[in-house]
Amino acid sequence: MAAGAAVATAVLRTPEDFARCELIYREVFGLAPDDGSLNARLLTGLSRNSGMVIGAYGNGELVGFALSFLAKQDGDGRLYQYSQTAAVRLGWQGRGVGRAMKFGQRSAALAAGIDLVRWTFDPLLAVNGHFNLDVLGAVATSIARDLYGPMATPDDRGEPTDRFVVDWELRDPAVAERAEGAATDVRERQPVSIRPGELRAGTDAALLGIPADWRTFRRSSPLAAGPLRDQILEHAQQLMGAGLVAVSCWRLDRDTAVYRFAGKGLQP
Ligand SMILES: CC(C)(COP(=O)(O)OP(=O)(O)OC[C@H]1O[C@@H](n2cnc3c(N)ncnc32)[C@H](O)[C@@H]1OP(=O)(O)O)[C@@H](O)C(=O)NCCC(=O)NCCS
Repeated sequence: MAAGAAVATAVLRTPEDFARCELIYREVFGLAPDDGSLNARLLTGLSRNSGMVIGAYGNGELVGFALSFLAKQDGDGRLYQYSQTAAVRLGWQGRGVGRAMKFGQRSAALAAGIDLVRWTFDPLLAVNGHFNLDVLGAVATSIARDLYGPMATPDDRGEPTDRFVVDWELRDPAVAERAEGAATDVRERQPVSIRPGELRAGTDAALLGIPADWRTFRRSSPLAAGPLRDQILEHAQQLMGAGLVAVSCWRLDRDTAVYRFAGKGLQP
């Protein structure tokens, strides 16, 4: 078990742990008790066949988990772990558990000879963008539009499941530094003035504004939300099509957050 300041992580293997993961998953995503979309049998099968379930403990209790499975990249056949989900209990979010858990996932992947973890996240959720890009040091490389079809959970019913695809290069020095506890490097915090949906593109870098809190924005401006989502996704698609990747996401003020895009392999 790898211990952090207050959080410990471990590779989970038992049906009891997996049953607990099932409960955490339902709690975090607000799912019905009979949802069954993630269940202990599935976790057992994945964990015994090249998948990984990493647990995070707070005060000795399982409070989060990350699930991934082995995948093969089209083209070059590179092996990676595809991380299907990461979830931290509601009362434990924002306290360093997710960070410790993902770095536990990194250690377990490296120990298994894998140096890439890939996953997706909703690009409209600025806190998730910040967690993935700034806290972990991953980069968003492409977009999957409406990946799972429309959402069915109570808070997001009908919302399209547009996702950024994230690559986490586990041996990237920027990732290794973070694993060793380097403070989050937000890379670009100069004051900027940008509106949600606005794009500022230079030759090898760009900024794209998004709402700071998408769910609040969607509740207060339901008619503007769909077109704004499309506009943001189209801008991001254009940048990624030109070879840029999203490297940072940070909150500017109460209403606005911003993505920074940079050329692949360029110092952001
Ligand atoms: C995303 C998630 C796994 C991150 O774990 P966490 O324990 O909350 O994250 P940490 O405390 O380690 O890191 C917090 C950082 O991530 C950001 N963050 C992401 N989600 C957050 C949340 N729900 N609450 C607070 N901070 C959050 C914060 O901005 C913070 O960055 P900072 O320290 O620079 O301010 C967790 O919040 C969660 O389960 N969220 C709901 C489910 C989800 O969205 N899962 C990911 C997609 S499958």
